[in-house]
Amino acid sequence: MSVRIAIVGTGYVGLVTGACLAELGHDVVCIDNDKQKIEALNSGRIPIYEPGLDELVSRNVQRGTLRYSLDLPASVRGRDAVFIAVGTPSHPGTDQADLRYVVAATEQVASNIDQFTVIVIKSTVPVGTNRLVQSIVERCLPEGQSAAVASNPEFLREGSAIGDFLHPDRIVFGAENEQAMAILQRIYAPLEQQGYEVLATEIETAEVIKYAANAFLAVKISYINEIADLCEAVGADVDHVATGIGLDHRIGGAFLKAGPGWGGSCFPKDTRALKATASEYVVPMRIVDAAIEANARRKDVVLKKIEAACGGSVAGKRLAIFGLTFKGQTDDVRESPSIDLVRALVERGARIHAYDPSQPAEAARLLPHICMCATPVHAIKNADALVILTDWKSFIDCDLRELSDYMADPVMVDMRNLFDEQAVRGNGFRHYVRVGRGAERPCRPQQAGHVNDHSLAPVVAIADTGTR
Ligand code: UDX
Repeated sequence: MSVRIAIVGTGYVGLVTGACLAELGHDVVCIDNDKQKIEALNSGRIPIYEPGLDELVSRNVQRGTLRYSLDLPASVRGRDAVFIAVGTPSHPGTDQADLRYVVAATEQVASNIDQFTVIVIKSTVPVGTNRLVQSIVERCLPEGQSAAVASNPEFLREGSAIGDFLHPDRIVFGAENEQAMAILQRIYAPLEQQGYEVLATEIETAEVIKYAANAFLAVKISYINEIADLCEAVGADVDHVATGIGLDHRIGGAFLKAGPGWGGSCFPKDTRALKATASEYVVPMRIVDAAIEANARRKDVVLKKIEAACGGSVAGKRLAIFGLTFKGQTDDVRESPSIDLVRALVERGARIHAYDPSQPAEAARLLPHICMCATPVHAIKNADALVILTDWKSFIDCDLRELSDYMADPVMVDMRNLFDEQAVRGNGFRHYVRVGRGAERPCRPQQAGHVNDHSLAPVVAIADTGTR
């Protein structure tokens, strides 16, 4: 049975949630106070990059299950559920989430309610926020009206958010009011009927599940990154180690891909917020602390790898960087390891030519001193090394022979282990550095013209001094 839903905030989470709930057959209105955004949406333009969202949105707009509005008071009236999906950035200089947008949205929503409504917090908010929201709702509700608050965390990955929503590992919501629970059950019934797991909990439990899940995944990645360093030291291969441990169903193979460290709009912010909450309640959070610390130090490890591959220093070297976003298949550069790494390489005197398939405008703003290239070939021409930082699928389709032919020195540092070592070396690269793979053996140049003074320099052993 269709539920009448309003979503406040048409950012990444709000728009994906709105479009997916409409796809499930509900009647959805997405609200935003940004006139330009609503105008763009009304004229069929999607302001964010997410594979499949365009088609999903237009299909539901056409069949009348999805529409947009600037008018919050009018759009909230007559709704069974109002989802709050506004931003919760970190307070500048602190680990605490800034809740001002959640508070403002709740006040506006609550004061316009004209029937029983469940106010669903979709934004990632610190533990305890739903209680705060409850008190705001009680204060702002019009005389004689009733409402309840529910926590319904999202587990959407950028780049696969629609699949994650429509084929979830689980759906979690926390509420205390029975009417609110019943509405949420109706909202997610189409997914439950397909066999997806629904977990109804207490409010605080739902809040903690979100943070505990993200922090656990961050811990997993930091762990495999440190194991990668060990693999390099002892001559093992981290990809095989990840397969070997991941086949144990108690561990699981997901999120065991070693790389340049985790970034994005969630893991860094959420691990910091979890730490902040724990410290407020005087509960040690040592494991998460260590994961954060290991992730910060990861950049030094990567820098040393690049320097070693370039013969000890990047000063004066022309480096081609592939990938600026925090991971592939997104245009998001928030807390991307690439941004910090490129900055550090520029500080060390490297000349950077970067290519990212999403051409992220924000990266150009953050990195004014580098050359942004429209194609891989533009970035690679005359480069002294190619550094792969993001796991874009399209990189795998690059013609390796063409890349190496264009380079001044065909050296590749592949921080995502995208390529097969034999294929790289067989296509003209004289030196290929992977993550978590021990015993680098520089091989002889395969083509005349690729040899220069440092082409046969041994790879410098990497010792993590832990400086940061
Ligand atoms: C994450 C969670 O996965 C999602 O459930 C939550 O709702 C929002 O935060 P997202 O930020 O889109 O999603 O990215 P994710 O795919 O989880 O990757 C996060 C970071 O970890 C990226 O920088 C990625 O490159 C890195 N990563 C991921 C690895 O280095 N190795 C892995 O094995 C997996």
